Amino acid sequence: MTTEQSIKPGQADGAGPGGRDVLSVTDERTGRQYELAIEDGAIRASELRQIKVSEDDFGLMSYDPAFLNTASCRSAITWIDGDKGELWHRGIPIEQLCEHSSYLEVAYLLIFGELPTKEQLDAWVFDITTHTFVHENIKKFVEGFRYDAHPMGMLLASVGALSTFYPDAKKIKDQHERYMATIRMIAKMPTLAAFAYRHNLGLPYVYPDNDLAYPGNFLSMMFKMTEIKYEPDPRLERALDVLWILHADHEQNCSTSAVRGVGSSGVDPYSAVAAGVAALYGPLHGGANEAVLRMLDRIERIDNIPGFLAGVKEGKERLMGFGHRVYKNYDPRARIIKKHVDAVFEVTGRNPKLDLAVELEKHALDDDYFVDRKLYPNVDFYSGLIYEALKLPPAMFTVMFAIPRTSGWMAQWQEMVDDSEQKIARPRQLYTGGGPRDYVPMDQR
Ligand code: ACO
Repeated sequence: MTTEQSIKPGQADGAGPGGRDVLSVTDERTGRQYELAIEDGAIRASELRQIKVSEDDFGLMSYDPAFLNTASCRSAITWIDGDKGELWHRGIPIEQLCEHSSYLEVAYLLIFGELPTKEQLDAWVFDITTHTFVHENIKKFVEGFRYDAHPMGMLLASVGALSTFYPDAKKIKDQHERYMATIRMIAKMPTLAAFAYRHNLGLPYVYPDNDLAYPGNFLSMMFKMTEIKYEPDPRLERALDVLWILHADHEQNCSTSAVRGVGSSGVDPYSAVAAGVAALYGPLHGGANEAVLRMLDRIERIDNIPGFLAGVKEGKERLMGFGHRVYKNYDPRARIIKKHVDAVFEVTGRNPKLDLAVELEKHALDDDYFVDRKLYPNVDFYSGLIYEALKLPPAMFTVMFAIPRTSGWMAQWQEMVDDSEQKIARPRQLYTGGGPRDYVPMDQR
């Protein structure tokens, strides 16, 4: 068992010759010994509190900036083995889901834990399809943004605003309200995303078309012009659907932790998901695909690659789309995307940046700097190329990530709400300030 994977319950216990799931600790400050229970490959950080130097001592804490080695929850949704490059949702490998499933079916699997029957899937798709419209006031709300507002900023604000339209979503223990919030969120996210895109272009918003499948409807809301009926290319629809399956969930990443953390206060799920959208906006997370395209634009030509990589190695910049907190091997999602790039280019024509990206990947994978640090392409290295081929501006790329991640956020949020061990998230700190000292009046400073 290495540290670069989710901990599977039971897998790491009872491995030693002693056969006891216990960690013995000696506190050299006091000479006292403690036994901490090991459960599912972890000790409970709160058990450290019994380790004290005196009665009035607060007790030992663990210090873990950026949660590098802290499990904050138990979760049955997603499994990642970063060393092997494996990703499963509810136990099913991502490769099988991408080959046989659809995004909406995967969303069902994430939320309910099982693959749906035909009747369950039909009802789920029907419910989502019939909740894609947003209130007309949301349209006015989006109209209020500046013409050049970043679409991710607009999405963040409009998802948060949805909470004001559905005040009953505050009843987070009510199963019906939870279901309604889940389908509304999955249904409306593409509508909000497309409105943000059309707002930037100064084009009229296109209402959802319920005759179309989920990805086809999105393409229609984005690109429909004067035609009576938009007819999406099935190859593009499929590529988009696969991309969305790949982005649906990824266990306790930055945005999911934000959704869980904010949701732990008991706030409604729209507000919690708005926090997830905000976290995803950052260039080290969902913003990386946008950053990859900007990076490829800067590199411009294959013969500039060595100079660019030299700058990366000197720490002047990062190779965007490379590296991952958990994967220390090829991100399995990057492998699947790479296959779909060709299918998309068949429809849209080849993007010369693909050659640049492939060459950049080769150079990096041949370079000790990246090999030694186990830096491989992540999901964002190639996704931006597909988005660009779909004629999306880079600013929309992270929005394209937020649409499918909504199902993962909702699955994780529901799991958190139902978890009796969870309380409001409230980390401790190691105080480094001074004091106590007296307040100094203004005229004496
Ligand atoms: N380019 C150059 N060097 C890198 C990169 C990179 N992309 N990623 C990590 N490194 C180096 C670090 O400088 C560090 O080197 P050092 O040991 O000499 O100090 C070492 O590799 C370890 O990196 P950390 O920053 O400690 O790794 P961490 O797990 O904190 O970061 C992260 C992971 C944020 C994804 C990082 O690899 C990165 O910034 N990548 C580029 C951004 C990116 O593609 N993000 C998308 C992630 S996938 C997603 O969110 C969907």
